Amino acid sequence: MFHDKVVLITGASSGIGAACAVAFAKSSASLTLVGRNSDNLNKVAKQCEKLNQLQPLTIVADITLETDLERITEETVNRYGKIDVLINNAGVNSISPTITPAEAFDTVMTTNLRGTYLLTSKITPYLAKTKGNIVNISSILSNKPLPMMTPYCMSKAALDMFTKCTALQLSPKGVRVNAVNPGPVKTELFRRGGMSDVDCERMFLGIEMNSPLKKITKGEDVAELVTFLASDRASCINGSCYVIDCGLLLGDASNL
Ligand SMILES: NC(=O)c1ccc[n+]([C@@H]2O[C@H](COP(=O)([O-])OP(=O)(O)OC[C@H]3O[C@@H](n4cnc5c(N)ncnc54)[C@H](OP(=O)(O)O)[C@@H]3O)[C@@H](O)[C@H]2O)c1
Repeated sequence: MFHDKVVLITGASSGIGAACAVAFAKSSASLTLVGRNSDNLNKVAKQCEKLNQLQPLTIVADITLETDLERITEETVNRYGKIDVLINNAGVNSISPTITPAEAFDTVMTTNLRGTYLLTSKITPYLAKTKGNIVNISSILSNKPLPMMTPYCMSKAALDMFTKCTALQLSPKGVRVNAVNPGPVKTELFRRGGMSDVDCERMFLGIEMNSPLKKITKGEDVAELVTFLASDRASCINGSCYVIDCGLLLGDASNL
């Protein structure tokens, strides 16, 4: 499905981004994989190469640094000569029972929003040439307040609006922009955001029990939706934010 297409994925070294990398590799995409942890990035790249015999370009980079954003763009274009799809997936969380300290607030915003915004603006001219598309990895928390994760919720609400504004702005160039809004997925996100292993276990158990489908969305499920939106099969989908959460946002019918 992505034969001869160049797909750039940020945060490809872990969780949902790694699952997306594997899914695109299965569909024969040429990949640029971006992350900070080179060991993890190389592991994912090897997994992808086994699937389609195409060696991904790996770029160890921090999307909060403008010089790194420049490098991501240049190295991808130098290697492939074009970019067809941008998956803005890299993101962080910060979990705090009180008001989040300024430093953690800034980290969430500079990663989830500023880095994503600036990388998108650098990649857009190349997407215009290929009439490509962008998929932003947002969250159901863009629309569901959770006080322990206020900056994260704020960042994802802004990412949804970024998706819609950019879709409108880039439509004349033939570039589509969409978002995927997953419910909780078992990745490193919550532990890295400050949650203990025990609390993570308890949270996912509770979510599973309360989920209408009695299950939790997996990275592979999200990747399935992402690859669909990035494909030509979704050529009429633009500026949309797709929830994928096993029905969690619907709430518990037994409470009615
Ligand atoms: N897990 C969930 O429940 C869930 C639900 C909804 C949405 N999401 C969203 O899904 C996306 C992926 O998260 P995940 O759950 O897969 O978490 P994860 O396992 O912690 O992965 C996060 C990825 O983002 C990368 N990253 C973070 N900061 C970065 C930076 N400054 N520069 C470059 N890369 C950076 C990490 O790279 P390194 O590891 O190499 O540092 C890692 O590859 C995030 O946008 C998150 O908000 C997650």
